[in-house]
Amino acid sequence: MLPMIQITELVKRFVDHSGSEPGKVHTVLNGITLAVARGEVCVLLGPSGSGKSTLLRSINGLESFDSGEIMVDNIRLTATPGPDQSAAILKIRRQIGMVFQQFHLFPHLTVLQNITEAPVHVLKQPLDEARALALQLLDRVGLASKAHSRPDQLSGGQQQRVAIARTLAMKPAAILFDEPTSALDPHTTGEVTAVMQDLARNGQGMIVVTHGMQFARAVAHSVHILHAGRILESGTPQKIFDAPEHDVTRRFLSET
Ligand SMILES: Nc1ncnc2c1ncn2[C@@H]1O[C@H](COP(=O)(O)OP(=O)(O)OP(=O)(O)O)[C@@H](O)[C@H]1O
Ligand SMILES: [Mg+2]
Repeated sequence: MLPMIQITELVKRFVDHSGSEPGKVHTVLNGITLAVARGEVCVLLGPSGSGKSTLLRSINGLESFDSGEIMVDNIRLTATPGPDQSAAILKIRRQIGMVFQQFHLFPHLTVLQNITEAPVHVLKQPLDEARALALQLLDRVGLASKAHSRPDQLSGGQQQRVAIARTLAMKPAAILFDEPTSALDPHTTGEVTAVMQDLARNGQGMIVVTHGMQFARAVAHSVHILHAGRILESGTPQKIFDAPEHDVTRRFLSET
């Protein structure tokens, strides 16, 4: 079966305008090839600056890139965008949701309105249908009683669970999670991780950047170690955690 997401030889460079050598080119992604199947739970690990966020952002069309390609189903993003690229990005965003470290909820909308916003305005769902689904999703993330609260009345963990429900309302084939718990304390981290594990066990495809090794061990199908813009090694959680091939992986795992 074809992978749902196929990234081939992705290269991304940034020109540094601020550092000690203005104009210096940094190669952040240096030939990433990665295939993710429908329903696969894929975890990306790697030191700070290794390009994890840049990779996720590229998949969702939030970053352009310099060479290589990204295919999501049969939608193609290339380094030299033609006139169809922005339409392709919109199609990809209907299939692939993203959950950020900093939640990014709309502060002036209630929890319920946050969740119904995209289904109503993007998918043109009738409001009562969108509301009914939103309430179901809130129940699923354990927040049925918060439908009419505003984001600033919720804890960080609750806000993140709303952000997950909001993403689920678009029925994405995969969700990209960029360190979804790193702004949270241990207790609320546990609540968010429990929701993510529940989704993973029920077949929700996802690519997760996390320091949560327990999450990776519990539900990941594949783990990939990013280092210096490349995938250094890949495998099952057992292989990567119990028998890593590279010293860099061993060192990275021992430090986290
Ligand atoms: N818009 C940008 N302009 C210039 N350089 C950038 C930009 N975004 C990211 N970078 C650089 O690209 C490199 C990779 O960044 P990225 O955020 O993808 O790393 P990361 O693996 O997500 O790190 P962290 O674990 O700290 O989140 C870093 O050196 C960063 O400084
Ligand atoms: Mg990052």
